[in-house]
Amino acid sequence: MGRDPRVFTNPDSYTPERWLPEHNPGASNLPDVYDIVFGFGRRICPGRFLADRIGFTFAVAVLKTYDILPLEGEELPREFPYQDAIAR
Ligand code: HEM
Repeated sequence: MGRDPRVFTNPDSYTPERWLPEHNPGASNLPDVYDIVFGFGRRICPGRFLADRIGFTFAVAVLKTYDILPLEGEELPREFPYQDAIAR
């Protein structure tokens, strides 16, 4: 579903920014990535809330453990808007 050529231009290229409105004017019409990952309807993953929290906890542990820095010569972004979402 994440490579549907009817939805994505160049679906097989690695372009995670395709989900962002500033890189893809049709981003508001894209499927919800949460649905793609965890399924739909009666068979939707019942562990999705736990999995979501584990992912968040993992990200927090990485941030606590490492110094995440920009590449040499590049600046830190000035704003860090928080969004509770898997991908936006
Ligand atoms: C990132 C982690 C996970 C992903 C991507 C994931 C994804 C999925 C998907 C795609 C399905 C099938 C939905 C369908 O048949 O349409 C599913 C089913 C299921 N998942 Fe997960 N899952 C994750 C974590 C978990 C966890 C942590 C648990 C339990 C603690 C869990 C328990 C289940 C169960 C029991 C089903 C079967 C539901 C049914 O057929 O009624 N999953 N999962």
